[in-house]
Amino acid sequence: MARILVLYYSSYGHIAKMADAIAEGVREAGHEADIRCVPETAPPEVVKAAGFQRNEEHPEVDGPNALPEYDGIIVGSPTRFGRMCSQMASFWDTCGGLYASGALIGKVGAAFTSSNTQHGGQEVTLFSTITNLFHMGMTVVGLDYGFTGQNGVDEVKGGAPYGATTIAGMDGSRIPSHSEIDGAKYLGARVARTAAKLAD
Ligand SMILES: Cc1cc2nc3c(=O)[nH]c(=O)nc-3n(C[C@H](O)[C@H](O)[C@H](O)COP(=O)(O)O)c2cc1C
Repeated sequence: MARILVLYYSSYGHIAKMADAIAEGVREAGHEADIRCVPETAPPEVVKAAGFQRNEEHPEVDGPNALPEYDGIIVGSPTRFGRMCSQMASFWDTCGGLYASGALIGKVGAAFTSSNTQHGGQEVTLFSTITNLFHMGMTVVGLDYGFTGQNGVDEVKGGAPYGATTIAGMDGSRIPSHSEIDGAKYLGARVARTAAKLAD
């Protein structure tokens, strides 16, 4: 059985909901999933003014040294100015020791994101996330086209070959659609199955 970490940051709950769906996909595939968020780094006055809210059901990650316990790590960040949020980047910037020791080499990685607009930078965010995973020596998997829910233009839909996504809408009121939740579950299952196959 593979152990998968779903590691995320979320200000308004969209990425937190996608994290739940990814973990569900891992578990439905018969594997183990933990959900952890990275620490808030924005000043308290910004957190208050912007209405950032933390999902208390998901504990904070116990530092970089918690990561090597897992066979796979699926990383979620909202899109911020077309790239990964600073909270998540800041966490990875504390992982130099893991890089130096090669502790994540050969583990499986994947990414997911959310943005307000359909073309607000999701693919760049996914790439700015998986870049970190490649540097750590991880084997990165995407949301392959076996997930057919990402095809078609019949409705607004997230999802890209580079990872699972959702679109929050300009006022953040849109919740992840059925198709986006299915994409998140698919990604979780794909990472877990791949990690189980690659485990030494
Ligand atoms: C500082 C900041 C920058 C943002 N930049 C973008 C952006 O470049 N493109 C976009 O579509 N949405 C942008 N957004 C909206 C976020 O992507 C959106 O709030 C997020 O996807 C919601 O996810 P969450 O509920 O998990 O926080 C930005 C939001 C903030 C606070």
